[in-house]
Amino acid sequence: MKKTLLLITTTILAVACTQSRVEKLVRQMTVDEKIGQLTMFTSDWSVTGPSMRPGFEKDIREGRCGNLLNAYTASYNRKLQEIAVNETRLGIPLLFGYDVIHGFRTIFPINLGMAASWDTELIQETARVAAVEASAAGIHWTFSPMCDVSVEPRWGRVSEGSGEDPFLGSRIAEAMTRGYQGDDLADPATIAACVKHFAAYGAPQAGREYNTVDMSERWLREFYMPPYEAAVKAGARTVMASFNELDGVPATASHHLLTEILRDEWGFDGLVVSDYTGIMEMTFHGTARDTCQAGVQALEAGLDMDMMSAAFYNYLKGSIERGEIKMKTVDEAVRRILRVKEELGLFDDPYRYCDEQREASQTMTPEHLATALKMAEESAVLLKNEGVLPIKKGTKVAVIGTLADDPNQYLGSWRAAGDGSYPQSILYAIMDYNGEKNVVYAKGCRQFGEDRSGFAEALRAARSAEMVVMVIGEDYSWSGEAASRSNIDVPGVQTELLEKIAALGKPVAVVLLSGRPLALERESKAAGAILEAWYPGTMGGKAVTNLLFGEANPQGRLPVTFPLCLGQVPVYHYMKNTGRPYLHPGFKYESHYLDIPNEPLYAFGEGLSYTSFEYGEVSLSADSFGAKGSITASIEVRNTGDRAGVETVQMYIHDRLASVTRPVRQLKGFEQISLQAGEARTVSFTIDPETISFWRRDMTYGPEAGEFDLYIGHASNDTKAASFSYED
Ligand code: NOJ
Repeated sequence: MKKTLLLITTTILAVACTQSRVEKLVRQMTVDEKIGQLTMFTSDWSVTGPSMRPGFEKDIREGRCGNLLNAYTASYNRKLQEIAVNETRLGIPLLFGYDVIHGFRTIFPINLGMAASWDTELIQETARVAAVEASAAGIHWTFSPMCDVSVEPRWGRVSEGSGEDPFLGSRIAEAMTRGYQGDDLADPATIAACVKHFAAYGAPQAGREYNTVDMSERWLREFYMPPYEAAVKAGARTVMASFNELDGVPATASHHLLTEILRDEWGFDGLVVSDYTGIMEMTFHGTARDTCQAGVQALEAGLDMDMMSAAFYNYLKGSIERGEIKMKTVDEAVRRILRVKEELGLFDDPYRYCDEQREASQTMTPEHLATALKMAEESAVLLKNEGVLPIKKGTKVAVIGTLADDPNQYLGSWRAAGDGSYPQSILYAIMDYNGEKNVVYAKGCRQFGEDRSGFAEALRAARSAEMVVMVIGEDYSWSGEAASRSNIDVPGVQTELLEKIAALGKPVAVVLLSGRPLALERESKAAGAILEAWYPGTMGGKAVTNLLFGEANPQGRLPVTFPLCLGQVPVYHYMKNTGRPYLHPGFKYESHYLDIPNEPLYAFGEGLSYTSFEYGEVSLSADSFGAKGSITASIEVRNTGDRAGVETVQMYIHDRLASVTRPVRQLKGFEQISLQAGEARTVSFTIDPETISFWRRDMTYGPEAGEFDLYIGHASNDTKAASFSYED
């Protein structure tokens, strides 16, 4: 009791002290100093956007720039911090932000790959590792987690998110937030998370980067909002407004998004930053006549910090003087920024994140590399395997494709401070494991272009071996920001070479590197096995080798649907039935294509293992429940193969009759179990009113009485069914 009282008193005192320190500062600050706190510029250390600004050091010195992105290393950031602390009137420390997206120096698989692990604990651990490494190098704040749900494979940034499912995306968003921020933001080994890109950035028309987004409020809330909300509710202290417009209003100045939903509904009290020149871009959107007006619109909508538009820097003072914006609004934005600085402990010790010793000793440690290896192994998805994998050690293998020996590629886009020369290539890792004499390598062809000059050598290599491992895919720079594609085929002449090699009759395993779902119809016909390895990060070469040779058992499951061809896009598991579902194959007037099936090549949730799993029937603790109740659904899963493996048991629901149309399959739970050969385990899921809640006809959120289908199984297209009802 005494202890609790003491804790409460200390907490109250701490909060009061924070408030008074921030309040005191706000009272002391001049208008220019306030504007400085609302301003973020890039340093010249790293470039992540279209424009640079010379003179940022001068701006810091003059108190006109309170926040920097793209500066790192303990020594560099310390030097800049010293300017802010020692040379400005109030000595307010700088806030350093950086895109630590899938690791800082130890690079993990790209985020879409990590999502394929469905292992939220391990994902949290990767964020933890990233925070430890980044915080030692002077970084306080990462622009992550990227919470954009997307069903658009043409869009390059599908690689940065967690795929197409709001439920899976939400669990990952929470995990990453917890990983970055830990329990205490003031701990020097934690960094602030930034929920981005708010909102619906993952739905650009035609998959073209930065393009228009438009959708119903219902679909926005149901499909795109959950991961942002989950991250906010997990305590993320910052949010980034997205570049796109939504319902005709750029998100950067959307009061509906930044104030009504984010702050009023979700209770967010942290800071909102624009995306890179997002404020200025409203002049191109055509909703602000100039950057000055855009700045006022953004602030009024609830945005606090201007990244790189220099809108507040150049124009805000004038707007204040002309009465175009209230000082109260400016002060509130300043407060939100200072509060985050305070929470990070920067007022207590502005240099606590600039620790050269820690930077040297806690970077790419054996533990961090082990986490990267585990994550890379867990993220790979075995899409097809006709007895080709695992390869027996000592088999004579032809390794083909320039990507097999280009480890720089494996880091993917947004590689932060990752070192492209560090990772071991797939080729070298295979040679290490399998013995050099058992490996023959041929470049074959590159990941783009029409050059076929290596074909003959590749075919010779294939002929001389017992089997072929062909590493193909996209160049890493073909996904990430500003990397939309108009088709989603495997580029260049790689598939042509694959088909020629397959025609030799040798077993062929394809290792695929990609930042998006690709259309793999030809590849799936030619290859006996396909392992989607995404961009697997620093430990990718070894991870892929372990998987190919069975030292690790593939367990990844697709977090995103792989279409048969681009014509199906968007195709995803969460689709609606339509009024004319395709129930009678061949019948013309039902929803289908004349020339291709409706089904994708690989469905959401799919992924093979070197063992096999068998599911029993679903059993329910009761077949109905009410507003205060719940039921439990259980199913037995047995490992029927001859080695241990991990299965991700997935639970989906379908609301048969509702006031608005409901998806045919909605993921509502998953659990990962590790089973020894022959072992069986019962997995249970709780179903309660929240499981079946949705945005109803009147735009209230909640359940409706009625009948539901329940599906539990291996993938969205491979489940056992049951049904239950809900009574109000
Ligand atoms: C633009 C990107 O959209 C965003 O994700 C990133 O955080 C900023 N640039 C800063 O690099």
